[in-house]
Amino acid sequence: MARLQARFVCTACGSVQPRWAGQCPDCGAWNSLVRADGVASARRKQGTGERALSFQPLSAQTPMPARLLTGLSELDRALGGGLVAGSALLLAGEPGIGKSTLLLQMAGRIAQSGHPAAYVSGEEAPDQVRLRACRIGLAHAPVALAGATSVAEILAALAAGPPPALLVVDSIQTMYSSEAEGAPGTVSQVRASAMELVRFAKANGTALVLVGHVTKDGQIAGPRALEHMVDTVLSFEGERTHRFRLLRCIKNRFGPTDEVGVFAMTGEGLAGVSDPSGLFLTDRAMPVSGSAVFPAMEGTRPMLVELEALTVRVPTGATPRRAVVGWDGGRLAMLLAVLEARAGLGFGGHEVYLSAAGGIRVSDPAADLAVAGALVSALFDSPIPAGTVLFGEVALSGEVRAAPHAALRLKEAEKLGFRRALVPEGVAGLGRLRAEPVPSVADLVGRLRAGRGGRARA
Ligand code: TYD
Ligand code: MG
Repeated sequence: MARLQARFVCTACGSVQPRWAGQCPDCGAWNSLVRADGVASARRKQGTGERALSFQPLSAQTPMPARLLTGLSELDRALGGGLVAGSALLLAGEPGIGKSTLLLQMAGRIAQSGHPAAYVSGEEAPDQVRLRACRIGLAHAPVALAGATSVAEILAALAAGPPPALLVVDSIQTMYSSEAEGAPGTVSQVRASAMELVRFAKANGTALVLVGHVTKDGQIAGPRALEHMVDTVLSFEGERTHRFRLLRCIKNRFGPTDEVGVFAMTGEGLAGVSDPSGLFLTDRAMPVSGSAVFPAMEGTRPMLVELEALTVRVPTGATPRRAVVGWDGGRLAMLLAVLEARAGLGFGGHEVYLSAAGGIRVSDPAADLAVAGALVSALFDSPIPAGTVLFGEVALSGEVRAAPHAALRLKEAEKLGFRRALVPEGVAGLGRLRAEPVPSVADLVGRLRAGRGGRARA
C-alpha cells in the first residue's frame, strides 16, 4: 500500500497544510498545526467492516418527533412549536443580548412543568446563575445546575442518572473536549465539543441547547462552524441599549424558518410581546423630515417600523460618509444610486445616515420604498405627512415592484391609525386607508417635492 502523505491540520482554523510550520499560513495562529494522518488511517481501518447500505422508500411511515413546549410562547413560536426531543439547537447572539437570561427562563419553565432540565454554565459560577434566577423569580425552579467546562465531565455526570429532557450548555466557546487539540473557543474545540454533546442528545432523546457568541458582523468562526451540525439555529438580535429583542429562526430541520419571536428585556428577565406591531414607532406630535413608516413583515406578523434618515451637506471635495443602523449598507448604496440615476437626486455632496427606530434590524426587502421616502424627505427637509406608510421593492430601473402580504401590511397600518399608503401599482386601499400607487422612484420624488412648500419645521 502506498504510504499515506503526512498532512497537518490547524487546530485554530481547521485548514489542512501539506507540511508542518510553527505558524499556520492561513490564520496566523502559532503552534497550532498537528499531524492528521493518524486520524485518516484509523478511519480507513474502521471502514473495512461496514454493513451494506440499504435504501428506503420516501413514503415510509415516520412518527412526528415529540415536542416539548418551553412555556415561553414567543420562543415556542420562533421554534415552530417547541423544542424537539433528541435535537440540537444553537442560540447565537452578541454577548450581553440576553441569551443566558432567556435559556434560564426556559429551563426554569420546563423544570417547573415536571421535565428534568439541566443547565451547565462554563461562563458563570453557579452562584451567579442562582442570583439571576432570583431576579427573574425562578429561585425555586428544580433546575439541575452545574459550572463546568469539560465535556467529558459533563457527560459522565449526566450518565450517572436518567437523561434530562433539556440540557443547556452556556456557552459552546467555553467547552473543552479531550477529542481535539487546541484551546477552548477554537474551531476544532467548538466542533469536537458540540459533536460529543449532540451525540449524547441524539442517543438519549434530550433536547440540547447550545449558546454561541457572535460579534456584530457574525465574525467569530465558532458558531458559524456549528450551523451545519445542529438541527435548529436561532439568532437573538437587538441593540443592548434598547429594550426589544427579536428571536429569529434561521435554520430549522423540524419546521418553518420564517418565524420571529419578540421579547422585551425587563427587570425580571425577558417578557414575550404578543402584539409587537406598534413597538418600533416613535411617539411624536409633529412629523419631522427624514422619517418614514414601513409596514414590515417579520415572520408571519406585520410590524410597523419607523425609518429615519439624515443628510448633511459636506464641503466640496470631501468624501461623504454613509452610515446605517438596522438595515443593509449595500442596499442603501444601491438606493442612493437609483435615486441619482432614475430621479436625478444627487446625494454626492451629502453625508447620509439611516437608522431603524427601537433597535430593530429590518431584513424585509419591501423596505426600499420607505427608505427612499426617508432619504428624499431628509434631502428636501420636508416631512412626509403624518399618517402615511410606504412599502415596495425598488428595482435598479427605478420601478417600484410588488411585495408579498400587501393586505396584511395595510390592515395593520389601518389598525394603528394610518390613513394613507404609498404602494406598488395594483395594491388596493383597505377600510379607511387610502392606497396611492407609486410606479417609480421618480414618481415618489415628484410627490414629496410637491409637498415641500407646506412643511412644518420641527
Ligand atoms: P445575559 O443573559 O447575561 O446576556 P448573554 O448571555 O447573551 O451574554 O443578559 C445580558 C443583560 O441583560 C445584562 O446586561 C443585564 C440584563 N438583564 C436585565 O435587564 N434584566 C434581567 O432580569 C436580567 C437577568 C438581565
Ligand atoms: Mg451569557
